Amino acid sequence: MSRLMLITLSFLFSHISNFGDTHAAHTKQLCRPEQRDVLLEFKDEFETPNSHDSCFVNNNLNRHPRMKSWMYNKDCCDWDGIKCDLKSGEVIELDLSFSCLHGHTSLFKLKNLPSLNSLSLSNNNLSGEVLSSIRNLSHLNFLDLSNNLFSGGIPLSIGNLSHLASLDLSDNYFSGEISSLTENLPHLTTLDLSNNHFVGQIPFSVGNLSLLTILGLSNNNFDGEIPSSFASLNRLNTLMFRANNLSGKFPTALLNLTKLSILGISYNHFTGTLPANINSLSNLLYFDASVNSFSGTLPCAFFAISSLRYLDMSNNQLNGTLEFGNVSSSSNNLVSLFLGNNNFRGPIPRSISKLANLVILNISNYNVQGGPVDFSIFSPIKGLTQLYISHLNTTTTIDLNAVLSLHLKSISILDLSGNRVSTTNKSSVANQPLQRLSSLSLSDCGITEFPEILTRLENGLMTELHIPNNKIKGQVPGWLWTLIRYVNLSNNTFNGFETPTTKSPSSVTYLFASNNNFTGEIPSFICTLDTLDTLDLSNNNFNGPIPRCIGNLKSNLSRLILRQNRLSGSLPENIYGNLISLDVGNNQLVGKLPRSLIHSSTLEVLNVESNMINDSFPFWLTSLQNLQILVLRSNAFHGSIQQQTRFAKLRIMDISRNNFSGTLPSVFFSSWTAMSTLDEEQDEEMYMGSGYYHDSMVLMNKGVAMELVRILKIYTAVDFSGNKLEGEIPNSIGLLKELRVLNLSSNAFSRRIPPSLGDLKALESLDVSRNKLSGGIPQELGSLSYLSHMNFSHNHLAGLVPGGTQFRTQVCSSFDNNDGLFGPSLDVVCRRTNPEGDETLEPEGEDEEEVLSWVAAAVGFVPGIIFGFTIGCMLISYRPEWFVNIFGPSRRRRRSTAAR
Ligand SMILES: *[C@@H]1O[C@H](CO)[C@@H](O)[C@H](O)[C@H]1NC(C)=O
Ligand SMILES: *[C@@H]1O[C@H](CO)[C@@H](O)[C@H](O)[C@H]1NC(C)=O
Ligand SMILES: *[C@@H]1O[C@H](CO)[C@@H](O)[C@H](O)[C@H]1NC(C)=O
Ligand SMILES: *[C@@H]1O[C@H](CO)[C@@H](O)[C@H](O)[C@H]1NC(C)=O
Ligand SMILES: *[C@@H]1O[C@H](CO)[C@@H](O)[C@H](O)[C@H]1NC(C)=O
Ligand SMILES: *[C@@H]1O[C@H](CO)[C@@H](O)[C@H](O)[C@H]1NC(C)=O
Ligand SMILES: *[C@@H]1O[C@H](CO)[C@@H](O)[C@H](O)[C@H]1NC(C)=O
Ligand SMILES: *[C@@H]1O[C@H](CO)[C@@H](O)[C@H](O)[C@H]1NC(C)=O
Repeated sequence: MSRLMLITLSFLFSHISNFGDTHAAHTKQLCRPEQRDVLLEFKDEFETPNSHDSCFVNNNLNRHPRMKSWMYNKDCCDWDGIKCDLKSGEVIELDLSFSCLHGHTSLFKLKNLPSLNSLSLSNNNLSGEVLSSIRNLSHLNFLDLSNNLFSGGIPLSIGNLSHLASLDLSDNYFSGEISSLTENLPHLTTLDLSNNHFVGQIPFSVGNLSLLTILGLSNNNFDGEIPSSFASLNRLNTLMFRANNLSGKFPTALLNLTKLSILGISYNHFTGTLPANINSLSNLLYFDASVNSFSGTLPCAFFAISSLRYLDMSNNQLNGTLEFGNVSSSSNNLVSLFLGNNNFRGPIPRSISKLANLVILNISNYNVQGGPVDFSIFSPIKGLTQLYISHLNTTTTIDLNAVLSLHLKSISILDLSGNRVSTTNKSSVANQPLQRLSSLSLSDCGITEFPEILTRLENGLMTELHIPNNKIKGQVPGWLWTLIRYVNLSNNTFNGFETPTTKSPSSVTYLFASNNNFTGEIPSFICTLDTLDTLDLSNNNFNGPIPRCIGNLKSNLSRLILRQNRLSGSLPENIYGNLISLDVGNNQLVGKLPRSLIHSSTLEVLNVESNMINDSFPFWLTSLQNLQILVLRSNAFHGSIQQQTRFAKLRIMDISRNNFSGTLPSVFFSSWTAMSTLDEEQDEEMYMGSGYYHDSMVLMNKGVAMELVRILKIYTAVDFSGNKLEGEIPNSIGLLKELRVLNLSSNAFSRRIPPSLGDLKALESLDVSRNKLSGGIPQELGSLSYLSHMNFSHNHLAGLVPGGTQFRTQVCSSFDNNDGLFGPSLDVVCRRTNPEGDETLEPEGEDEEEVLSWVAAAVGFVPGIIFGFTIGCMLISYRPEWFVNIFGPSRRRRRSTAAR
């Protein structure tokens, strides 16, 4: 069942707990032998899951391999998932949902169950193009194929299923247009096509589906406007078309849908104002039009809909002052109100206190134009537990103690970021206990003193404290570690840690303390915080050795980030356990990489860049089968790397600026699977890291140092520059089909550039400068359409420079200092930078390159947004995390459905 159906059910039918009796009758030998055989043949199409299958291991209680009970000597009408007609003995229902089935199937065999009226194969891993093979099941009334890997378009023959009342194809890879559905299935009451690859306009003939009560079209690529024929869908109670490319004004046809209770049109491109008579949707319960471009004022008619409980208009361009009309506390049932990130201005209306049932209120970025904010207007909303009220543009300083002790006594989550907040204890209100506070966000509030009020947390544990980007100085209080699970203190001016005051067990799990003014050694009490999962002390002035006792944290610690300090000595020999990220870059560490890392089989990121580590190439790391990022840049690593390496998951390898020498075997890259094939099954997270923490790194790309604030999981780079490698560039480099950045410059590579480089179709940046390469530039490179930066200078190359736009948009200096390159591309490149029109290739000054680098740097450094020129676009097109939260994460997120 799709998420759409789930919310529908939970909103509308939550009182129904029993979906009726669907047990099979226990009559002897009711089953028809020929139908039993059909079912057994069907069963044979699938592999039987064995007991170590994820089906059993996963704690998903729903899953259950129903086919296990299908045995020849038992009446098939008693088999799990089967229901027969009591008179004829014909199979009429087949339910194999959550049955741990996988593999390619055609449902062709099922055509021999002609009386089947209900078929569910949902929540398996089935693939194939199935829709055309079910046309013979002409009695089908209920069809649920949701949550599988099915693909293909909707064939015309689906019209043969003329009795179909419920069709759920959600969460698959179905594609194409959908008009054959809407023209031929007049009895449909439920149609869920969410989370597929459907395209085209929503057909006008949707209006023919006059019995529809549930329509789900979210997360596809539908475009155009909502057809006016929607006005005839007057039984509709759930309509979802979030996350498509729909546009136009608010579809007024929807105003006729007086039964509508759930409407989601968020993440599209709708514009214009919302209709003032929106309250004609008098049964509306849930309305989500966030992340569009609606403008004008928010109609106060919304607050006249007494059934409305959830209203999300955040992230639009609504303006003017907010008004609630003559809303009354008694008629109004609004529980969740999201209006953040619009252009509202003026005072926050006092009448907001009449929304007496509110539990969640978000009015972040409401511009009060310098005016004061009176928190007493929230006091009457007794159940308010989440208030997001960041960036109000108030000039008044908010008194945190008063707000927490007087006005928001039952608040659980409070976000005051971007406002001026004072944490100084004013005696009059200082003694109230804090009852329910669990998350407090105070980023960028000009705070100078740590909020002592948190010591009065009545129930002990607080979940999250975000207090980065302030001016807090002095020591981090010692009581913190037993009170809070997540602490973000980064970008303040803390200079030390108080030793913990109590002996209570520690609770802190995530500690972010980067960009402060810490000095001295890393205090060893850190090692007593045995609940730590993530410790980030980067960008401080810590010196001395990394405490040896850090090994005591081995069971929980998964991310240790100490980059950019002045740490010395060697890495502790006993770092092992469950590390996922270890980043000690930019310190003064010496010695060898600790061999104990070999036990961190979970390690994904190892970054020791810019230290003085003196070791040979860590071939032993190849046993870490999860390693994805390896950065040894700028150390004293040395010796040969003449061995085939097996880095199955590695996607970024930077060993530049060391003393590696010798030749690379021609098969060097042949087992680097992650860079040669893209993993089709993308997992939930698109960046390295997870939840609270994202890995970051600096990478040379296109000739400039580029900061990857977050590392896309699909980013790939190989940087061997600045070593003493010699011999031929391994031919196997051509296997890395997903490689985006390749830098082999400043080595002693000789002989020809392997033509296999032409296979690197994803390559964006190629630098082989400053080697001893000879021969020509392979003509194959001319067809690499993403290749936007290249450098062949300072080699012995000769011959024709390839044609193609990419080669004609380089700087002349990229071809400098070779033995005889020529050709029209070079003429274009070098003539353009040489206005005298001199045809000969002149040595270029460094100036030009520098100018270009600055431009690239300017683009590359837009904080956290643009990584590469092409990746940037993909990146912006992803939806923020909270989007996923509303409906829960999808089982698997694919790049094309997640993108919009
Ligand atoms: C589908 O397969 C993947 C990996 O093979 C597994 O993680 C997932 O749990 C399976 N899903 C279902 C619904 O069986
Ligand atoms: C299935 O349908 C096709 C054409 O629509 C027909 O030729 C075939 O006989 C049908 N098969 C069965 C078993 O009904
Ligand atoms: C499907 O419908 C077409 C016409 O719409 C008809 O020619 C064909 O016989 C039907 N097939 C079955 C199996 O009912
Ligand atoms: C929609 O509502 C308007 C006004 O109530 C009415 O004139 C119109 O006929 C309705 N359209 C349909 C298709 O029901
Ligand atoms: C609000 O937006 C509407 C529509 O874009 C515009 O016409 C109007 O001038 C804006 N009003 C204010 C006060 O900005
Ligand atoms: C914030 O308020 C001040 C008045 O105190 C006003 O001048 C300024 O324009 C406002 N800022 C924005 C972004 O509207
Ligand atoms: C650090 O905080 C100050 C405000 O206190 C802010 O201006 C600055 O941009 C922040 N730096 C970072 C890197 O977030
Ligand atoms: C940070 O520490 C240094 C010395 O350790 C000191 O000179 C400097 O003033 C401190 N900065 C702040 C903002 O406290």
